[in-house]
This record gives sequence, structure tokens and C-alpha cells, in this order.
Amino acid sequence: MKTLDTLDLAEKRVFMRVDFNVPLDKQRRVTDDLRIQAVLPSIRKVVDAGGRLILASHLGRPKGKVAEDFSLKPVGEYLSRILGKPVQMAPDCIGAAVEALVSKLQGGEILLLENLRFHAEEEKNDDAFSRQLAALADVYVNDAFAVSHRAHASVHGITRHVPLCAAGYQLENEIKYFHQAMEAPQRPLTMIIGGAKVSSKIGVLENLLSKADHLIIGGAMANTFLKVQGKNVGKSLVEDDHMETATNLLERAKQKGVKVYLPVDAVVAPKLESGTAIKEVDIDNVPSSDLILDVGPKTIEIFKSVLKNSKTIVWNGPLGAFETPPFHKGTFSVAEFLGSLDALTVIGGGDSAAAVRQAGAADKVSYVSTGGGAFLELLEGKTLPGIAALEECSQRS
Ligand code: 3PG
Repeated sequence: MKTLDTLDLAEKRVFMRVDFNVPLDKQRRVTDDLRIQAVLPSIRKVVDAGGRLILASHLGRPKGKVAEDFSLKPVGEYLSRILGKPVQMAPDCIGAAVEALVSKLQGGEILLLENLRFHAEEEKNDDAFSRQLAALADVYVNDAFAVSHRAHASVHGITRHVPLCAAGYQLENEIKYFHQAMEAPQRPLTMIIGGAKVSSKIGVLENLLSKADHLIIGGAMANTFLKVQGKNVGKSLVEDDHMETATNLLERAKQKGVKVYLPVDAVVAPKLESGTAIKEVDIDNVPSSDLILDVGPKTIEIFKSVLKNSKTIVWNGPLGAFETPPFHKGTFSVAEFLGSLDALTVIGGGDSAAAVRQAGAADKVSYVSTGGGAFLELLEGKTLPGIAALEECSQRS
């Protein structure tokens, strides 16, 4: 695959697909800039090389309609502040006005296009729309790992119509770390899988059975596994229609020699609310009136001892209701612990990435992926259409 380092960028119109789908608060201020920070190296590279940089992104799901609430303007302002450099905002992502702005763009200048999803054609991977985007570019760069699981026009269709394609630094990093962790791992490889639902992670768990040595299961999804083992999980979230799936997964893990670790104790409370009375109980003593909201201290110690002896660790999904203290402790202790290890530690998925950052461990782990759905699809063993299209284009161009 071509990379930014292999191209002559001076004076070229560089169309860079980024994922600026970042959370904004009610005042439309950026509240988590992981995805913006992640593409700064590629942005700086193009600017320093004298390229004419055109940034393109989606924000939210405006369903093909123009809506001020989904404008990328606040992101452009934020980017301009952290770069210490003007970022011009285009009124749209295609059309005569945009073409005029692009033609006036000088080497080293940046233009941010308006939300691609204001046009329904983006998500339809429409060919005419892809061509209009491609017409803005001498070079196409994908630095948007987090949306590379979508076969959309700016990620997929565009690659058929641009003269040159390359991967940005962030995309390169995502692929590199994922490969090191999942395709050529130093063993033992331990996977930590958490989050609310088994149903959203079946594909991941299936795929991991042929990759991992140890599988740590936490979060509300552990409840379904505990229930199939005959435990009383009180009022906790359980997916009764996935009990059979959970039973099969445990059986197959045993056949394949994958050691599964489930919580042995839990933090429980009658409701999910800060300040509510909590109890730490063994998993055999969960009161029928309570919910399991976090892993308990004994579980944390067991999980740590497994992690300590692992050479590679991949984590997706929180271990408890970490957004509501005090139910953050299990997730945060594991995040901090990962930061103290020498192992290759790769964290992915919106919640786990946010938890690692909140726990202050983001700079201490090996890599925090910017992907949510894209990271999950890689864990499921899928090929991402955006990456496949980029590879094809990069070979052709
Ligand atoms: C994400 O936040 O996972 C990506 O930006 C993709 O967004 P989407 O799920 O709306 O396609």
C-alpha cells in the first residue's frame, strides 16, 4: 500500500478522508478529540510538504439532509485552534462553490469540506457523487480507519476515480497494531471482551476462539454467561434469547483450549445511580433484588494475574457501568494496570478508548484505536471495504 511518505505532495490537491465524527456537547464544543489528534501527523505532513489539503468527513447521521446541528464548522474551528493555523470551511462537499475554493487553495493551506452525509449519495456509494468528490483530488488519502468498515462514496467509490491513493499515518498505525496483536501475536494472547450485550459480540467471540489463548469476559454481557452456569444474577441485564449461544461459546472455548475467565465477585446495587448503596458480593451471593454493575475486587486480582503473564492483550468493551461512579473501578483498574505492563496492549471501541483516556492510561498502553464499529469488524475477522478499496487503488495507481 502506498503511504504518505512515498508521494510527492507539493502543490497537489490532497483529498484526505478523515473521521471527525467526534462527540459535541450542547454548545457544540468538541468533548473528545481522540480522532482529531490521531490525524494531526498526516495533516502536518501534507501542509509541510506544500500540499493543498482538502479534508472530508461525516459527522453523525443527518440522513442525507442539511442540518446545522450536524455541521462540521465547530470541528474546523477546533482543528484550527490546535494547529494554530487557519482552516477554511467550505459550504458543501461538492459543487461549483467548493470547486472554486479548491482552485484558490494554495500549497500548505487547508480547506474542510462540509458534512459528506448531507448528501444521501455518500452512504449509497453513488458513482456520480464519488466522481464529483474525486474531481477535487490529485491524490486521495484515507486516514479514516473508524469509517473504513462503510462502503461509502468518500471511502470506497472515490478510489475508483482518483489518479493516486495512499494510506494516512493513522490508518497505517491502526493496521500495523492490529496485525501485530491479532495476526502475529507474541503469546499468550489475552482478549478482554466487555460491554452490554453478548448479541453484539457473537461474531467477535467466534473469531477469537481461534486466535486467543485467554478470554476475559466482563461487563453486563458476562451475566448471560454466568446465568448459563447456573448463577443467580438478580435483576441484572441478561439476554435470555442468547443463553444457547453463550453455552455453545463456552463449550467451543473448552474444545479449543481457550481459557475463559468470568467474574467471581461483583459490585451490586438496587439501581444504576451514583450515590446508591453498593455491596461487594461473591458471584454465588448476588441478591435477587440487585443488579451487577461492576466486577468485584477478587475478580480484578484474577484478571490482573492473567494479564501479567500475557505478552499481547487486546481489549474491547468496559467491564462495568464505568460512566456512573463508583461502578468505574473495575474498568479503570484494568486500564491502569494495562498501562503498567510491558506487553503489547491494544485497546479499541468507543467506550474502552474513552475509559482508558479517563483513567489516564492512554499514553501508557501501546495503542488506542480510533475505531468503534470498524475495530469490532476487524475483531470479527472481516476485511474492511475502505481498506480493500484503498489497497486496490494503491496497486493500480
Ligand atoms: C463511528 O463513529 O464508528 C464512525 O464514525 C462511523 O459512523 P457510523 O456508524 O455512523 O457509520
